[in-house]
Amino acid sequence: MDALTMLLDDPSLRVPAADLDRYSTDWSRDLSGTPRAVVRPRTTADVASMVRECAARGLPIVPQGGHTGLVGGATPSKDGSEVVISLERLNAIREIDPVNFSMTVEAGCILENIHAAAAAEDCLFPLQLSAQGSCQIGGNIASNAGGLNVVRYGMTRDLVLGLEVVLPDGRIWNGLRKLRKNNTGYDLKQLFIGSEGTLGIITAASLKLFPKPSQIETAFLAVDSPDQAVALFGRARRDLSDLLSAFELLPRRGVELALEVMPGLRDPLSGPSPYYVLMEVAASGLVHLKGLVETFLEGAVESALLSDGTLAANGAQAAEFWRIREGIIEAQARRGRHLRTDVSVPISSLTTFLDAAHADLLRAEPDVLPLAYGHLGDGNIHFNVVPPSGLSEADKTALLHRCEVVIFGLVDRLGGSISAEHGIGRVKRAAFQERSAPLDLDLLRRIKAVIDPNRLMNPGRMFD
Ligand code: FAD
Ligand code: LAC
Ligand code: ZN
Repeated sequence: MDALTMLLDDPSLRVPAADLDRYSTDWSRDLSGTPRAVVRPRTTADVASMVRECAARGLPIVPQGGHTGLVGGATPSKDGSEVVISLERLNAIREIDPVNFSMTVEAGCILENIHAAAAAEDCLFPLQLSAQGSCQIGGNIASNAGGLNVVRYGMTRDLVLGLEVVLPDGRIWNGLRKLRKNNTGYDLKQLFIGSEGTLGIITAASLKLFPKPSQIETAFLAVDSPDQAVALFGRARRDLSDLLSAFELLPRRGVELALEVMPGLRDPLSGPSPYYVLMEVAASGLVHLKGLVETFLEGAVESALLSDGTLAANGAQAAEFWRIREGIIEAQARRGRHLRTDVSVPISSLTTFLDAAHADLLRAEPDVLPLAYGHLGDGNIHFNVVPPSGLSEADKTALLHRCEVVIFGLVDRLGGSISAEHGIGRVKRAAFQERSAPLDLDLLRRIKAVIDPNRLMNPGRMFD
């Protein structure tokens, strides 16, 4: 009998073999593996007993949320040794406390459902990303996701008040406080945020809420260059009273590709522009937001910080602008395996980075299509590279690696990060280790050894 058949009394918690695909293959379909089994606990106690059993049998565990992570952290290995623990059935909203501006949710809650539950109490949970219909809050926390509103609300780390975690030996750590201020000892929850499933399984979280914006202005703006976009961003930060909630850079080629793949969308502006900024400003309460944004845009035009632009007339048009942003991801996905990067540099170095990366890349690999877009307001650009068609898989791998070396080399020179938001997983492990100081790696390994001495939790992810 397979060890996992004995693992649980309740066979309904296991995924039947015929349904294994989405637990074995990630969202991008670039990565897949063979799980030993996939189990879907319903309660924290179930998770704890499964982990205890796995630990007793020395079985490696892969915690899995929506499997939308882009670095292979939640994808089981190919050797059939790893047990996937999917959190999808642990999906209750335990409490909403609008007076405290907080909510407590289980790890398997889909992000979009959290948005809806918060909105029903006139509150906002501000983590927004294109995968929000399928990613889970446990996965967001484990990968310290960024997304579209970091410029105003911070990363996931900034939105977590407390956590409940099943440790690798099956003990349940209860750090589920909903306090904004608590200086008693080390802040242990921070260890688990961004730990990519290597230190334990997050089973529940207390999250920060904010007043739900009652006014939102969304602008689609044409700029001549990244330099102009950076200048516009600086002006927006100063002029808009900290109400700026998104500031995304989109290249013309990305917008064209998005318009090709997203049905019913049209170009928001009459003529083409090398770059665009998708900007959102949001407020609750007594501010007259539209007037503020219009005055800001008039000033920006007078100062030659933008060449054209339009303000969404209503929510439906704003949603269309955001679908263009989403379409850039979709269009790349349809072109098959490509290089996804997730780099950050200081905003003051963004222009240098983008200019040099385009020039160096096209000099070295003239046939590739670079697509650099993303969270300009966070200094975080997805500098992606689509290879020419017709390459063998081996040639494609070699080409994409050469491109990555060019991009990461520039990031290093500019004091940037090779992973601003997606994390390390398996995909970036070598690149991460290469550029980590020995003391950093030593501390990481010691923390891992204290919490997971048998190295059963997501082995081989993040570092060896
Ligand atoms: P998974 O992919 O299932 O897991 C991610 C990691 O967390 C794995 O290492 C896994 O082992 C671990 N994990 C999952 N659940 C738990 C748990 N309960 N306890 C412990 N460990 C766990 N990321 C951004 O930061 N910003 C973006 O704007 C963004 N946009 C995206 C858009 C698209 C279309 C897609 C496909 C992905 C995007 N991502 C983005 C990447 C991804 O990080 C997020 O989608 C999300 O945070 C992953 O959540 P998930 O539930 O799918 O996690
Ligand atoms: C984005 C994801 C891929 O911002 O992080 O599109
Ligand atoms: Zn992103």
